[in-house]
Amino acid sequence: MAGHGISVWGSLNIDLTVRVQAFVRPGQTVPGQSFHTFTGGKGGNQAVAAARLGADVRMIACVGDDLYGEMYRDVLRREGVDASCLSIKRDASTGTALIEVEDSGENRIVVVAGANARLTTAAAVRYSEVLSQSAYLLMQLETPMDGVLAAAEAARSAGVTVIMDPAPVRPLDEALLRLCDYVTPNETELQALTGMPVGTLEQAERACRELLARGAGAVVNKRGAEGALYVDRDGAFHVPAFAVKAVDTTAAGDTFNAALAVGLDGGMSVREALRFANAAAGLSTTGLGAQTAMPDWNSVEDTIRYNKLRKFIQHL
Ligand code: RIB
Repeated sequence: MAGHGISVWGSLNIDLTVRVQAFVRPGQTVPGQSFHTFTGGKGGNQAVAAARLGADVRMIACVGDDLYGEMYRDVLRREGVDASCLSIKRDASTGTALIEVEDSGENRIVVVAGANARLTTAAAVRYSEVLSQSAYLLMQLETPMDGVLAAAEAARSAGVTVIMDPAPVRPLDEALLRLCDYVTPNETELQALTGMPVGTLEQAERACRELLARGAGAVVNKRGAEGALYVDRDGAFHVPAFAVKAVDTTAAGDTFNAALAVGLDGGMSVREALRFANAAAGLSTTGLGAQTAMPDWNSVEDTIRYNKLRKFIQHL
């Protein structure tokens, strides 16, 4: 029987983030503007984002037997995330991401999986009770596929709603898609998963329908500054984004998925939850670092209210 709160199955990385004016080109050496060490990883980002928004969150993940692993566990606890399902792997390093962020706010990321590669089926078996006791399961693809599939199976068989972020993009077979209530590709991922053009909303809707035909329950195409497109078997609609001044877009997609789950868990309709997710994701880009600017519930609500007011005034 599905229970309450949100479980996150996935990666924990330490992000080594360098700020540059423009992305470095092959063979080029450029001065960086700053260097920071942040906690990140798509799984950890989703867990922290959901906890900041007030959800009851537990994280199932692996870290290395090193200082970064300890540091991450402390951060999760400080953020109010239940870290009791964190496995410390001997002879493995905690996952690491090398990130360049340029002045436009865009990023480039190289990930070394480290201990994340050890989050396999064995962990899904070990934590099957935890997985089946949540209301929502957030997943991404930075950990081995066998574990992702086993965790999704454990959750779905208990009636838990599974939200899959197909990032970094890898082929998704139909057995896994059928276990996903929501699949949330960005434009690049949607194009890679379907081989179809996604430049316009009409094209993207056709590509989303291809994922529905392969078994997904519903598809949310995250389109950054263009908002989000929702497609299920009954129809499709577009939810616009909120204008923000982006400093660093790292983890905007992770924040979006966390906020979608928190919104739905809090009783919002899908449309309301997508608007909430757009606002949360936008706010998360206003600071350097994956988790630095992830908002709390009130900041997201304030943004939505302010935006409504601004639109109202513009129409006067
Ligand atoms: O989605 C953003 C995340 O991708 C970063 O925090 C980095 O760790 C990579 O996993």
